[in-house]
Amino acid sequence: MNLSAEADPNPAQDSQASLDNNQCEEVVMLELKANALEYDTYMHLRKEVGWKMLSKKQAQTALSRCLYNVVAYEDGEAVGMGRIVGDGAVICYIQDLVILPSAQGHGIGSAVLQNLISYVESITEDGTEMMLCLMCAKGREGFYKKHDFMARPTSGLGPGMIQYIRKMF
Ligand SMILES: CC(C)(COP(=O)(O)OP(=O)(O)OC[C@H]1O[C@@H](n2cnc3c(N)ncnc32)[C@H](O)[C@@H]1OP(=O)(O)O)[C@@H](O)C(=O)NCCC(=O)NCCS
Repeated sequence: MNLSAEADPNPAQDSQASLDNNQCEEVVMLELKANALEYDTYMHLRKEVGWKMLSKKQAQTALSRCLYNVVAYEDGEAVGMGRIVGDGAVICYIQDLVILPSAQGHGIGSAVLQNLISYVESITEDGTEMMLCLMCAKGREGFYKKHDFMARPTSGLGPGMIQYIRKMF
């Protein structure tokens, strides 16, 4: 399948692209909808790729506090999503970039990622620099490198570091 039309670079608007399978001449419509991510879709897509469960309150709070999200629909079915979190001025993070396993490898992840990057470009103040970060899932480095992300550490930059804050019942 080829992505025969780019997603609309204006992330404030919904955009459409056609995924054209030349071999069987089937045209699949890909639609990207800005800020359309709802709880059920969020949990469904996370579950389909085996990510850990969240409490309902935790998921709803996460969705309500992100700066931007995008949902990818293939022939009307939600097959992918991505979110941007951060302060929107100095630093933004890509979060929850997920494509359903059955829809992977068709360019949808790239379309969602480019849409997220376009959003961050659109909110970056003229004459300034925004740092766009992500925590790469194991084995996905190649995907992000294709989209101009660099892996840390480098000779001049240290590694990303995290800790989990756990509060048990
Ligand atoms: C990672 C993910 C978002 C990629 O989405 P996708 O729709 O399958 O990716 P695309 O079809 O747009 O792939 C674009 C390119 O990246 C390459 N690519 C995709 N996944 C890759 C991987 N894991 N490693 C290396 N290259 C990869 C593709 O081969 C393709 O290369 P090409 O342009 O030369 O053909 C998707 O596989 C996914 O949702 N995985 C499970 C959840 C996950 O790990 N998300 C990332 C969290 S950091």
